[in-house]
Amino acid sequence: MSDAIAKTAQQAGATAVQRCIVPACAAQFGIREQIYVCSRCGGPLEIEIPLEILKSVPDLRERWQARAVSHDPRDRSGVWRFRELLPFDDDVPVITLFEGNTPLYDAPRSAKYAGLTALRLKHQGCNPTASFKDTGMTAAVTQAKLLGARAVVCASTGNTAASLAAYAARAELQCAILLPRGQISPAKLAQSMDYGAVICEIAGNFDDCMRLISDLADVPSIYIANSINPFRIEGQKTVAFELLEQCGWRVPDHVVVPGGNMGNSSALGKGFDEMLRLGLIDRLPKISVIQAEGSAPLAHLFAGLKSSDITKNATLPDEIAPVANPRTLATAIKIGAPVSWKKALRAVLRTHGSIITVSEQEIADAKAIIGRDGIGCEPASATTVAGIRKLTASNKIHAGESVVALLTGHVLKDPDYVSHYHRGTLSFESVTTEGTAKTVQITGAFRNAPEKVAASKEAILKSLESRR
Ligand code: F0G
Repeated sequence: MSDAIAKTAQQAGATAVQRCIVPACAAQFGIREQIYVCSRCGGPLEIEIPLEILKSVPDLRERWQARAVSHDPRDRSGVWRFRELLPFDDDVPVITLFEGNTPLYDAPRSAKYAGLTALRLKHQGCNPTASFKDTGMTAAVTQAKLLGARAVVCASTGNTAASLAAYAARAELQCAILLPRGQISPAKLAQSMDYGAVICEIAGNFDDCMRLISDLADVPSIYIANSINPFRIEGQKTVAFELLEQCGWRVPDHVVVPGGNMGNSSALGKGFDEMLRLGLIDRLPKISVIQAEGSAPLAHLFAGLKSSDITKNATLPDEIAPVANPRTLATAIKIGAPVSWKKALRAVLRTHGSIITVSEQEIADAKAIIGRDGIGCEPASATTVAGIRKLTASNKIHAGESVVALLTGHVLKDPDYVSHYHRGTLSFESVTTEGTAKTVQITGAFRNAPEKVAASKEAILKSLESRR
C-alpha cells in the first residue's frame, strides 16, 4: 500500500461524526462532544465512520489479519486491531485489557438439539472480565479519558459493571456502578468489588437504575458507559468483523444473540452493515434476537408488527411498551425498558431476522446442552440455542443453513444457577395472567448432580459403569 493510502486509512476514524438515527432529524455532532442522545430531538446517536475514505484502501482484510500475530498492544486487542473503523486518531492512548479475539467453536451436540446439521458458538465469555461487554468498554473508557472525565458510571445487571470497573481501574478513573439490590449474581458483584468500583445497590430494578443514570448525564466530569453511549457500540461492532474473519469472510446465514438492553444486537447490525458498505461482504446475515419470556418488550413489539412494517424501508415505531416488572432467572437480561431497542429493531428488520421469546425451562436445558459440548456459558447466553431450536421448528431457520450463536458470558458468572439446575432445585417465581404469583420448578432434562461414592476403586468403576 502506498504511504498516502496508509495515512488516509489511519486517519479515517478521526473524521467520524456522531449522528442522530431518527431519519427526520439526522442532526450531526462533533466526535468529541460529550452527549449520549440527540440534543435536538432526543433520539439515539450513532457514530458515522467515513467509509468512502476507506474504500480506497485495498488490503484492509489482510492488514487486520496480519495484526493478529503482532505484539503491538493495540494489535493484540481484538477491537483495536480493526482501528481504521473506530472513531479515534491513530495515536490515541488506548485503554485495553487485550479484549476480543474470542474463539468460534463447533458445537455438535447443541446443533443436534437445535435441529441443525451444524452450529458454531462464538464465545464472548472468553473476554478479560468474562463477558462481551469488554469489547465495548475499551472504546468507551478510552473516550472517557480523552474527554478528561473524572468518573465513569453505569447501570447494570452485573456484567457491564464488572467490565467498566476493570477498565476504569486500568485507566485510573473513579467508577460508580448502579445495581438493582439483591438481583445480581454474587460472582459478578465480586468482580466489581475486586476492581475497586463504588458499588451503589439501588432499591429497584435495572430500569430504575437506568433512569438514575439519565439524571447523571448532565454532570460534565462524569462519563456514562451504558450502551446508550455510541462509543460502546463502536467497540462491540468489531465482533462482527472478527466473526467474518473466522468464517473466512463467508457470511453465515444467521447470527443469533440474546437481547437485554439491546446494545449487542445494535452493534452487530452496525458491524455487518459497515462490512457490506465497504464491499468486504456481499450480503448480510439474518440477525435474530432472543429474549426471556418474562422480560421481552421488543419481542412483543415485533410480534405486533404488520408484515408491511417488516420491509426494508418501513419507519420504526416511536414507542415501545415497557415490561413493568421483568422476570427471568437469566438476570443479565432482566430488563423491561431496553434503551437501544430502536437500533436493534432496525438491524433485525434490515436483515430479515426475527425477535422471539424462550421460556425459563428452555433456557435452562439449552444451557446444559451447550455445557455438554464442553462450552460453559451463563443463562442469558443460552437463550440463543433455545431460540434457534424454536426457529428451526418454525422453519425460520433450515437445518442445513450456517448458523452462529453469540455466547455473551462465561459459565462461572452464575454458578448458583448451574448448581441448582443439576441438583434439581432450580425454581422460578412466575405470575399467572390473573396476576397471582406461582413457583415453577425447572425439571432439568440434562441434570448431572454429584453423587456420594465410597472411597474405593470398585465403587468408582461401578459409578462409571452405571452412567455408560
Ligand atoms: N448476555 C449477557 C451475559 C449480558 O450481561 C447482557 C446484558 C446481555 C446478554 C444482553 O445484551 O443488553 O446488549 O442486549 N447485560 C447488561 C449488563 C445489561 O448490565 O451487564 P444487551
